[in-house]
Amino acid sequence: MNVLLIGSGGREHALAWAISASPLLGTLFAAPGNPGIAQYATCVVLDVADHKAVIAFCRLQTIGLVVVGPEAPLVAGLADDLKAAGIKVFGPSRLAAQLEGSKGFTKDLCKEAGIPTAAYARFRDAGEAKAHAAKQPVPVVVKADGIAAGKGVVIAESHAEAAEAIEACFSGAFGAAGAEVVIEEFMTGEEASFFALCDGKRALPLATAQDHKRVGDGDKGPNTGGMGAYSPASIVTPEISARVMREIIEPTVAAMAKRGMPYVGVLYAGLMLTPQGPKLIEYNVRFGDPECQVLMMRLKSDILTALIATCDGVLDTFDLRWWDDVALTVVMAANGYPGTPQKGTEIKGLDTAAEVEGVEIFHAGTKLVSGRILADGGRVLNVTARGKTVGQARDRAYEAVRRIDWAGGFCRSDIGWREIERERGL
Ligand code: AMP
Ligand code: GLY
Repeated sequence: MNVLLIGSGGREHALAWAISASPLLGTLFAAPGNPGIAQYATCVVLDVADHKAVIAFCRLQTIGLVVVGPEAPLVAGLADDLKAAGIKVFGPSRLAAQLEGSKGFTKDLCKEAGIPTAAYARFRDAGEAKAHAAKQPVPVVVKADGIAAGKGVVIAESHAEAAEAIEACFSGAFGAAGAEVVIEEFMTGEEASFFALCDGKRALPLATAQDHKRVGDGDKGPNTGGMGAYSPASIVTPEISARVMREIIEPTVAAMAKRGMPYVGVLYAGLMLTPQGPKLIEYNVRFGDPECQVLMMRLKSDILTALIATCDGVLDTFDLRWWDDVALTVVMAANGYPGTPQKGTEIKGLDTAAEVEGVEIFHAGTKLVSGRILADGGRVLNVTARGKTVGQARDRAYEAVRRIDWAGGFCRSDIGWREIERERGL
């Protein structure tokens, strides 16, 4: 089967790496891909916003499955148009992608289905939103309803800060994403990511992970797309996993089916492990990045078969096997990230770094120019390692980082610290 993978990040490199190991695979195409993905795929220039062009490409290359990495094409309805053209696609429809595309939609669904999440209210008027926020205990959480590139959430420590965040949303700071505001109760606890494949009727749990969102050591500094991750997250015990499936994931799949918008694809639940149990912070309709990288390193089964089973609605007869090993990834970012990253600096030593036992290096923002790898984005590399313990995976990943010769980049030095403390019994 020929496969078209859409995206260009570390998440898509990890997916390409896993898909390329499948005995079912014919040719793998990636649009646009990156120099890492190009090791396994034919990278093509395709405007993914032009659905007719994507369909024409699929017909020309007899693509049996399209795998959509990022959320934006899903929210824009790419999966609907491919499906209507008779092309199999891994990823939810435009309506089902509202689980990520509209926080208000998800909160209403949770309320209806009794899914544990923070108490909330939705507003289209700044005055009403401010009046409501002023009555809430602080911190209070203010969110733009739509997708705001990870910048639409403010944990307001005072009512004045909440009012300012509401004002910023309605004054167009996030464009259409801010036309509605959700005000939420602040939840306390540790965060974890939970992934499940959903075929519209059933959900199959994948694995748990935790990521490090802040740019600096000690989880300090501004938020990023994620500076590192590991899987499994031992804090999500088998009992908690079962509870997440029963109380959060399965009711969501059922509620979506009932609304006539069955969810097909991977569902990524951001969880808060509160003293009252796991609660949903938000959904994403795609794999996490960099969580996908650690998931793919631990998956023993054929990913392509799993993606096809999801699209075909046969997850009830399906199971997955995982390596017992832990996987950990360290993100190397270009200097300046998460502000304005410096582009064009040269990266050397990737081959010797990849020789460290258990290590895979996934590319994110890189480009290949005259045989040289140059930085071409914020998050640039994902140095990923497997190990028997988190400590071993971490040591291997950082040994590989040391072998990378790149003056223009940096990484955190403490990825996995919480898990390592748990491993040591601290
Ligand atoms: P979101 O984009 O909704 O995942 O929010 C981004 C981050 O804000 C989350 O990863 C949490 O760290 C934090 N956050 C969001 N909502 C809440 C909440 N209700 N209580 C506490 N923290 C939250
Ligand atoms: N690592 C967080 C995300 O993919 O949204």
